[in-house]
Amino acid sequence: MARTRIVVLSGAGVSAESGLGTFRDSGGLWEQYRIQDVATPEAWAADPVKVLRFYDMRREQCLNAVPNAAHHAIAELERVFDVDVITQNIDDLHERAGSSRVLHLHGELLKARSTADPSFVTRINGPSLGLGLRCPLGSQLRPHIVWFGEEVPLIPVAAALIARADLLIVVGTSLQVHPAAGLVHALPHGRPIWVVDPKPVPLSGAHVHTINSKASEGMPLLALELLREGSA
Ligand code: OAD
Repeated sequence: MARTRIVVLSGAGVSAESGLGTFRDSGGLWEQYRIQDVATPEAWAADPVKVLRFYDMRREQCLNAVPNAAHHAIAELERVFDVDVITQNIDDLHERAGSSRVLHLHGELLKARSTADPSFVTRINGPSLGLGLRCPLGSQLRPHIVWFGEEVPLIPVAAALIARADLLIVVGTSLQVHPAAGLVHALPHGRPIWVVDPKPVPLSGAHVHTINSKASEGMPLLALELLREGSA
């Protein structure tokens, strides 16, 4: 029998309890920085050092963080289900918890790419990506991050995964950023959506089930329930 397909759409909230700040909660990153100063192609053109420093700080935090119970619960689902994680997060905590298929919609902190050839992507060794670090073509390496105003190239891949899902879990995302937020509409009508978030998320309908709690509490409970049903 085919295994039930689960897609997990995650956001910053899933890593919050690993010490990585969210964006739009009070005290979040976008209260401390202006998006247009650090996360746009224009910011990169105007002040690459500032942009590199911003992502160096994020990278250092990420390297010092460890996955929490929510990341582990998501990885556990693979024991019984066919699981794809689609994350808006640029950290690697899902992978470190053991999830084997993780799609990073908004890029990856631990990678850099060429400014001349976007297909040249390389791992960053250490916390810092310096000005002067170049690709084989001789152009500056930039963070492998999707900035505001840029295309999100993995959206069609993510939408295709959700279109085949039997169940969608939405955890720790405010669903404020498009096109990622619109992905939920790729789920075939009538299939269940489980939402894990301490705050209300703009999703409603008979097939939406909400667990109003932190990811580290709600996700293990949900995983336990799904694993119990799925292995029955
Ligand atoms: P947001 O900061 O917009 O939303 C975080 C969500 O996590 C909110 O719904 C919070 O209620 C929830 N949350 C907070 N603490 C939580 C916890 N302990 N457990 C579970 N949920 C918790 O972050 P995202 O939705 O991920 O993009 O933001 C999407 C994109 O906007 C990011 O990928 C980033 C940002 O700008 C780029 O930088 C391109």
